[in-house]
Amino acid sequence: MTCRVVVLISGRGSNLRAIVEAGLPIEIAAVVSNRPQAAGLDYARARGIPAIALDHTSSPDRATFDTQLAGEIERFHPDLVVLAGYMRILSPAFIARFEGRLLNIHPSLLPMFPGLDTHTRALAEGVKVHGCTVHFVTDKLDHGPIIIQAAVPVRADDTPDTLAARVLAQEHRIYPLAIRWFAEGRLVNNHGRVNLKGDPTSQSVLANGG
Ligand code: GAR
Repeated sequence: MTCRVVVLISGRGSNLRAIVEAGLPIEIAAVVSNRPQAAGLDYARARGIPAIALDHTSSPDRATFDTQLAGEIERFHPDLVVLAGYMRILSPAFIARFEGRLLNIHPSLLPMFPGLDTHTRALAEGVKVHGCTVHFVTDKLDHGPIIIQAAVPVRADDTPDTLAARVLAQEHRIYPLAIRWFAEGRLVNNHGRVNLKGDPTSQSVLANGG
């Protein structure tokens, strides 16, 4: 049975595009944005994917909005919900409802630099290696079980923008891969550590960005 995926976005949607264009054995059932102006919605519409805008500013509080959001998502009966640049903290009730089938991509090598402005913070710390992480979402922000990471070098003349671009290229590589593994039923969550079925050495999890 084809894995049905709902993608949540807030903006540009370049990860959405990478996922759609990777030719994965999945069906993108819908794209939902909490910001009606998100460019990713236009991309989805142009591809004939149901695209839904749910403006969070018209909800009285997070719990109300997330209940509405969960209701919209459930209409599409997803096997997997993918956060692709979804820039709102999710309520515990929402996470509990989708836990185990809820993925996020974060622009740092977690557990370093959870939260916002990761590239600026990485440069300020002087780290020599930076990157991105795909993980299962739990109720601890940016801390769920890690599926795959990609590392990139930090160069002496990097700005937050040049570093972000280098990391983003790797995001576009590892998110489709993680979703493929999920769709193939290969991800095993062993007490918070994710193993990849059919890969006893887990070597393929060691992605390396250029
Ligand atoms: C990506 O860099 C993603 O990792 C980040 O937002 C960007 C969205 O870009 N997500 C977070 O910071 C979540 N904490 P996109 O809309 O072009 O995919």
